Amino acid sequence: MNNHSRILAIETSCDETSAAIVENGTTILSNIIASQIDLHAQFGGVFPEVASRRHIEVIQPVVAQALEEAHMGLDDLDCIAVTQGPGLVGSLLVGVNMAKGLALGRGKPLLGINHIEGHIYSLWLTEAAPGIKFPVLTLVVSGGHTELYLMVDHGRYQHLGGTLDDAAGEAFDKVGRLLGLPFPGGPAIDKAAKSGNPQAFSFPRAVMDDGFNFSFSGLKTAVMRQVQKFRPERLPVNDLAASFQAAVVDSLVTKTERAAMAYGVTAVHLAGGVSANSALRQAMKERLNIPVRYPPPVLCTDNAAMIGAAAHWQFVNGRRHPYNLDVIPSLELTQ
Ligand code: KG4
Ligand code: ZN
Repeated sequence: MNNHSRILAIETSCDETSAAIVENGTTILSNIIASQIDLHAQFGGVFPEVASRRHIEVIQPVVAQALEEAHMGLDDLDCIAVTQGPGLVGSLLVGVNMAKGLALGRGKPLLGINHIEGHIYSLWLTEAAPGIKFPVLTLVVSGGHTELYLMVDHGRYQHLGGTLDDAAGEAFDKVGRLLGLPFPGGPAIDKAAKSGNPQAFSFPRAVMDDGFNFSFSGLKTAVMRQVQKFRPERLPVNDLAASFQAAVVDSLVTKTERAAMAYGVTAVHLAGGVSANSALRQAMKERLNIPVRYPPPVLCTDNAAMIGAAAHWQFVNGRRHPYNLDVIPSLELTQ
């Protein structure tokens, strides 16, 4: 099997327009990310129509820059990969149409990639990659997802559990808004919590049943009730942020630890925007007695390099998609 690949990857599933060139699934030659955070901050969340319009404006220069930084032309590529789903339909369409056009125009193979699988493969872009041994347990925690996957081999996953309501990142963003912090709430709460007392308020830990599911909507409501007890100018933002964050982290670590023990994994991987959270990283390392790995912050949030890393394994295994590839906004990750 030829293990070599040079892949142009495109990611436009939500509010980042990104293009990357990845070699052999592990080496990033370029990874351009045009974030729309400033554009959506005024709405306090991602505005789908605004997002797709911005993707249309910037996709071409972002792809051009990715090729330029990698000193490559389209003819140097082995494959063009793109996020097919899950994500916002209008946003996904921009990336998929761009990838289809380039692949068809140059006669290059095309691969549609699951966004969640991209997050999982962000770990293969780190220096830990050569030491990864299956089975591993990956907690994907982002604005749209909180899922536990047992990964038994490349491309082979078992879904162990996930959130029953809000995703962890969604809870961070909603609580950030309640506390009057800037969008997105996750990084702002992470920062505020550093000056707060995590025991100041006792917030509920999600239903601790014997499975591997999560729930964060009760916690969000509990924070809202506390917030309502204070006059806005007296709101103890740092203590509320620290106490809320401690509750989220406790739930995430408890279920992850339980699954890691049940399946005898070699390591736990954290991926997705919330895996950038400093308290989560620290607690996982402290409470688990197996290696805990996470990507650098730029690879935690949405980026195209992770899509290129996931695409590599499919490419070398001979997988190809037809040029009439469609977006699948609610695509699920199956083996
Ligand atoms: O992976 P991502 O960029 O997009 C999705 O696929 O959803 O994740 C974005 C989410 C947002 O909810 C953001 O608040 C959260 O990741 N996030 C964080 C941190 N940095 C980003 N949450 C907690 N702590 C952080 N440091
Ligand atoms: Zn994501």
